[in-house]
Amino acid sequence: MRKKVDFLVIGSGVAGLCFALKAANYGKVCMVTKAKVDDTSTKYAQGGIAAVVYQPDTYEKHIQDTMIAGDELSDRHIVELTIRESTARVMELVEWGVDFDKTKNGKFALAKEGGHSEFRVLHHKDITGLEIEEKLIIAAKQHPNIEILENHLAIEIITQHHLGIEVSRRTPDITCYGAYVYNPNTNKVETILSRITMMCTGGIGTVYGNTTNPTIATGDGIAMVYRAKGAVNGMEFVQFHPTSLYNPKESPSFLITEALRGAGAILKDENGVEFMSKYDKRGSLAPRDIVARAIDNEMKQKGCDHVYLDATHISKTEIFNHFPNIYAKCLSIGVDITKDMIPVVPAAHYSCGGIKVDEWGESSIINLFSSGECASTGLHGANRLASNSLLEALVFSHRACLKAVERFKDIDFCDDVPEWNTEGTVLNEEMVLITQSRKELQTIMCNYVGIVRSNVRLQRAFDRLEILYRETEDLYKKSILIPEICELRNMINIGYLIIKHAMNRHESRGLHYSLDYQGHRDESQSTHDLL
Ligand code: FAD
Ligand code: SIN
Repeated sequence: MRKKVDFLVIGSGVAGLCFALKAANYGKVCMVTKAKVDDTSTKYAQGGIAAVVYQPDTYEKHIQDTMIAGDELSDRHIVELTIRESTARVMELVEWGVDFDKTKNGKFALAKEGGHSEFRVLHHKDITGLEIEEKLIIAAKQHPNIEILENHLAIEIITQHHLGIEVSRRTPDITCYGAYVYNPNTNKVETILSRITMMCTGGIGTVYGNTTNPTIATGDGIAMVYRAKGAVNGMEFVQFHPTSLYNPKESPSFLITEALRGAGAILKDENGVEFMSKYDKRGSLAPRDIVARAIDNEMKQKGCDHVYLDATHISKTEIFNHFPNIYAKCLSIGVDITKDMIPVVPAAHYSCGGIKVDEWGESSIINLFSSGECASTGLHGANRLASNSLLEALVFSHRACLKAVERFKDIDFCDDVPEWNTEGTVLNEEMVLITQSRKELQTIMCNYVGIVRSNVRLQRAFDRLEILYRETEDLYKKSILIPEICELRNMINIGYLIIKHAMNRHESRGLHYSLDYQGHRDESQSTHDLL
């Protein structure tokens, strides 16, 4: 028996939950999520959400900061609409029960992060994401029109390709009919037909060995849409967060929020000497691309494994009230941040690129929408401004919902879709083939496609990835599907997209920095270079 739903939502982070909660007021929602419902990047968000709430802040200032951080590659129209809708969207979170910190006089306590000219980041201590994820899950579980299927991995979106009709990247009317989804209870790939499909699968961080992202961040949605011949762009712009806790035994890396620098913490070398002012007059609070590159340079020049973040001069009251989670985590590895400098290192953190969507969150594939980290709206350009990601997810899930509910009743289910074909597949009994390929991919991406790139490094990555690609496709075709092989395949697709888009960009801009194009700008290049 195949399931038929009005709205199929893939992913249960802020983007998926926000869309589901709104769409459920109009029709049946089925949310599939490949792990536990709260296993998301959203849950780990620390700093908070950037939004304009009080003067002296203005929409114009936030727009300007976003454009500057994006190295002038952001789409101004998208930036303007996102920022202008920021106030309404965060107030909606408050209505859903999210408890942002307040000052003694009852106003929201606002923090500052890199690249922001004003204090505008709403937060819940240093665990904002957890607070949002928990409150949205409670609301979703209470909604009679939302069904949540945990541990269900979406494998492919269904298009006319599955009906035997050939599609190419030039086909103008590729249509999405739902998705093939792995059900762990039956061990089978099942067909879920939907009128509207909403892709909210989050980021790509695990493609790199060193990342702040949870293990779910394997870029599945972007890879699925790319394979279905949908438009994907901006994948060269991978954001490395400057300050993850240096603790080589731990993966993923624990984040030290930029809000700590907003509260006064300063980046220093092993001799306790501040170094950021050599690189940028904004010092430790320069935009992330600049800070991560500066740290990378310091580490390479001095041959060290990390630098330090000094928060020892910040008052204990501020540390205990605003950063209790970071304080406790650092203490657990023997670092008392009120007395000791924190060892930090950059780590892959956020994908600015992804599934290309319009101002309504609609992808190039008909009836397929996307929001959150897997979507590329044009907001971030070449580098995302801190704490603009949760905001983007809220704005675009809202806008996608407006469009989707307008249309869904006129969309018929496609009953011709065949069941998932398992012919000729056997159980792969060599897990080592998957785990080792995953490690090889992560090593390639870290060594050759990191913060600083060059033509030679990218070509080397491309050649090595090609071997992994061929081996994995071969294994995939022969195997009875298990989540691990599907994720590996997606990660390799993502690695390919990052490398290919990086090779296509003949300039250094924002997060894409190439030794071959230092100081070179090519004004003819946009983020809308498609493969
Ligand atoms: P996620 O929250 O990652 O959710 C993705 C969902 O998709 C998960 O439920 C996952 O299981 C599911 N999924 C994935 N693939 C499949 C599949 N094939 N089938 C079924 N389900 C699937 N941003 C800010 O704005 N402010 C911050 O303070 C901030 N701090 C951060 C701190 C950390 C440590 C990290 C990692 C990120 C931070 N970010 C922050 C970025 C921000 O948290 C994320 O970009 C955002 O939460 C992404 O939300 P999302 O809904 O798109 O994806
Ligand atoms: C942080 O708290 O530093 C992360 C904020 C973000 O990724 O936007």
